[in-house]
Amino acid sequence: MKIYAAKDYDDMSRKAGNLIAAQITMKPDAVLGLATGSTPVGAYGQLIEKCKAGDIDFSRIRSVNLDEYKGLSGEHDQSYRYFMNHNLFDHVNIDKARTNVPNGLAEDPEAECRRYDQVIADMDGIDLQLLGIGGNGHIGFNEPCEVFEKGTHVVTLTEETRQSNARFFASVDEVPTHALTMGIQNIMSAKKVLLLASGEGKAKALYDSCFGPVTPHVPASVLQLHNDVVIIADEAALTLIRENTHWESMVYDN
Ligand code: F6R
Repeated sequence: MKIYAAKDYDDMSRKAGNLIAAQITMKPDAVLGLATGSTPVGAYGQLIEKCKAGDIDFSRIRSVNLDEYKGLSGEHDQSYRYFMNHNLFDHVNIDKARTNVPNGLAEDPEAECRRYDQVIADMDGIDLQLLGIGGNGHIGFNEPCEVFEKGTHVVTLTEETRQSNARFFASVDEVPTHALTMGIQNIMSAKKVLLLASGEGKAKALYDSCFGPVTPHVPASVLQLHNDVVIIADEAALTLIRENTHWESMVYDN
């Protein structure tokens, strides 16, 4: 794990945008694993600017998103398909047929999960997986639990996650109770992982993920076992790590 310190959200977003752009430049037909939520919005803005400036080309890029709410259609303005179209896909020259988000309305969600695993397998691996992190250490919607779930699966969202995501809905009651999410093995199979963290609310989860035991109780801690993880975190998210005696061996200031 390498942790790069960013001054603030904008700095984190610029650094992340540069790294993802470098991936696209080096492999124009790369498979990108993408995330939703507040964290990557700034990085997506950077990619849109770079694409508009002619610096990067999405025409051969394929993508797989981490997750989708169960019960929401892609047209629902809080669905993750809608989020991706709105925050990235509608503004770059990506072929939407090459973009994948689990179908939240699938009649048979278990079959949809197996289909999604097959989509990922057919892509021959994710080149760069972008991740945010939940305040409880979740990645994708892999919530703290007793075992690391391997493949795409249906998950019951924790009350904490529903409360945290209620800011996007009219009320917490409207936040779906379930989601379809890639599993830990899907994420760990990515060639490179880029995790972004911003704000004090992520400080404990980030600290535990980097320095605590590897445990499904802190799902992001499994990333300690991946051999190519880059974390870009702003100072607010780094507060607890800065207090750790070993942080200098892992944090790169620039
Ligand atoms: C989103 C996702 C989640 C978020 C996490 C952080 O696709 O899988 O794991 O990355 O909940 O959300 P934000 O960025 O809104 O703090």
